[in-house]
Amino acid sequence: MTDHAPLDPSKLTDAQLASLTSGGSVWDTEAVGDRLPAIVLSDGPHGLRRQVQGGDALGIGDSIPATLFPPAAGLSSSWDRDLIREVGATLGREAQALGVSVLLGPGINIRRSPLGGRNFEYASEDPFVSGEYGVAFVEGVQSQGVSATPKHFAVNNQETDRFRVDARVDERTLREIYLPAFEAVVRRAKPWALMCSYNKVNGTYASECHWLLTEVLREQWGFDGLVVSDWGAVVDRVAAVAAGLDLEMPPSGTDGKVQDALGDGSLPRADAERAARALIQLEARTRAARLALPPGEVEAAAGSEVALRAARASIVLLDNNGTLPLAPSSTPKLAVIGAFAAAPRMQGGGSSRVMPTNVTDVLSAFEATDFDVRYAQGFEFGGSEFGSDARERNPHALADQAVEMAENADVAVVMVGLPDGAESEGSDRASIDLPWAQVDLLERLIATSTPVVVVVSGGSVVRLGQWRNGAAALVQGWLLGQEGGRATVDVLTGATEPSGHLAETIPLDYADTPSYRYFPGRDQEVVYGEGMFVGYRHYDSAQIDVAYPFGHGLTYTTFEYSDLRVQLQDNGTTAIDVTITNSGGRVGTALAQVYVRQDGDPQSPVHSLRGFERVTLAPSEGVDLRVELDDRAFAAWNVHERRWRTAAGKFTIEVGESSRDIRATAPVHHPGDGLTAPVEPLSTIAEWLSTERGREVLMPLVRKVSDSAGGATAAPEMREMFLQMPLAKLVAFGIGITEADVAAMVAKANG
Ligand code: GLC
Repeated sequence: MTDHAPLDPSKLTDAQLASLTSGGSVWDTEAVGDRLPAIVLSDGPHGLRRQVQGGDALGIGDSIPATLFPPAAGLSSSWDRDLIREVGATLGREAQALGVSVLLGPGINIRRSPLGGRNFEYASEDPFVSGEYGVAFVEGVQSQGVSATPKHFAVNNQETDRFRVDARVDERTLREIYLPAFEAVVRRAKPWALMCSYNKVNGTYASECHWLLTEVLREQWGFDGLVVSDWGAVVDRVAAVAAGLDLEMPPSGTDGKVQDALGDGSLPRADAERAARALIQLEARTRAARLALPPGEVEAAAGSEVALRAARASIVLLDNNGTLPLAPSSTPKLAVIGAFAAAPRMQGGGSSRVMPTNVTDVLSAFEATDFDVRYAQGFEFGGSEFGSDARERNPHALADQAVEMAENADVAVVMVGLPDGAESEGSDRASIDLPWAQVDLLERLIATSTPVVVVVSGGSVVRLGQWRNGAAALVQGWLLGQEGGRATVDVLTGATEPSGHLAETIPLDYADTPSYRYFPGRDQEVVYGEGMFVGYRHYDSAQIDVAYPFGHGLTYTTFEYSDLRVQLQDNGTTAIDVTITNSGGRVGTALAQVYVRQDGDPQSPVHSLRGFERVTLAPSEGVDLRVELDDRAFAAWNVHERRWRTAAGKFTIEVGESSRDIRATAPVHHPGDGLTAPVEPLSTIAEWLSTERGREVLMPLVRKVSDSAGGATAAPEMREMFLQMPLAKLVAFGIGITEADVAAMVAKANG
């Protein structure tokens, strides 16, 4: 590309503008001669899926080998911002090596239901964890001069009917649950691109929702990147450009519609120029990285090293009776059971599917140790594996062999979980049960006298039956990418200390889940009837038992918390200081989670995670840990005023190792944000009297009404009715106040 001045959209023809609002091919943007080169976009959120011959958005065709990292459901369980940023940076370097300028990730939608087919690609049930994950990931990718693309904006929480479904969500739930992760990423990490979702949001396709793509994203949050559609998400090209969508992918061959709309004036040229400017800016932002390296191969060894550390940190130790960590000296004869031990579950299905540069499995990793290892497949896949009617169809021979092997071992490690295809882009799960053959095998193994260590693989949580009470140890192994096999053995043997924590609650039963009665909707509509009560916000507010709570994760040591201090700061943030001591015999990493609890409002979740910090401590080591809460920690979205408000009142700061393992609390009285809402004609008498200005203006009228009613308004039963009366309604009550009086009072009170 010669050194020209940047392309000026105002100088482009309608035809050129129209062509830039759509891609050049399935993975490339459109070029403009030698003035604007085409740039390459590529999945995905946990590894490059660079396709050079043609390509598909479904994960069907092959791609160039690249490092397969733990998908978000695993990596987010690390709660390690620095590690997530490092994974992002490694992905950025690999994108650059493969000539990719725009990486299509991270996925930061909320894991609303455990049935969600793409939960493996998303970070959490909690918006704060999702936001921290997204910020670190985007910072990492873009540190390499490659654009990240947080997705799918917005409210993409299911795969069922995803191209059409209308997600009906109240605005407070949108603002406090489904948008905050995107808001945090846009405001703090400043992504150069962002992808809209397929679905409708409250009646309008996200790809053509001006409120979402322009008012919220650009005007309120300050987004200054390019908005790209999900592949095939655009329904109306012209409406999409007008709403704030800059780039349709892949091209639908309908540029003529945009050109015609420009020609007849139904599409303002400014909208098309905005889209062109966004693409020109994206090319410029990614040019240095693109020109610095000729497309080649990824640095496989470097990627594997990062992927291994990421996998280790993603593993969550749920339960342990002391059997872990395993040591050949104490349990030399090891039975390794389950198909996943030899054929690991590394990733989910769909557009994020990566061709890994390497694969490690649990069996091989154990065989490389000093254990005396025996392997049994234990179960097989295929056919209808779920539900008890599968009982007859599962060959007992595999289970018989596994049970016999376990009976002759010192310890058994059993790898179970969701088979490939059980969770994928494009479809949701029908149940959260494990395949029956696995449950049957677990029950039989647990019935032996051999300690059984169970490792669960899967991108979303499964129902853990009664067998779990008999397990010697239980590990949530998620999907761990290409190095998951070795990472799992490192944690089970204590070569690596377990440090992961759940970013999604594991419920006892599907019927306990908050969206049980609403997911996945019907008749092309899904109502988010559970509102704000997603994940632990539901279970903890309703005091519903769960298998393992949000934030839960054990280590091989223990921690004590003490001396909690809370300091509200002038800038609206809050400083939380707490002393943490390693009270066990091994080094370990504590994860101090900070929840803000309110007990007065049943319409709001009883507590919400507002901060967290990790700290690694040697035995007996103590530290004073600081956790900063941002200025939204005590806020709620006011749907009438359509802004964030922090009411004065009593709250409790909770600090602990999970949403139900609170180690220290401290009361805090928040003075509120001091904002006063302007009074309106329909403001109630109580609202008028709640501000000094309002009282000053209103009191003469209150006295007049009270006198004319002979003081009746002071009677208790009348008082509340009077206070709840909108001022303007008094006009109809013949007390001598007119609409003009009301208007004058409103003007005077609002000054
Ligand atoms: C897919 C996915 C999206 C992906 C895109 C390109 O349908 O929804 O996450 O980045 O299309 O493959």
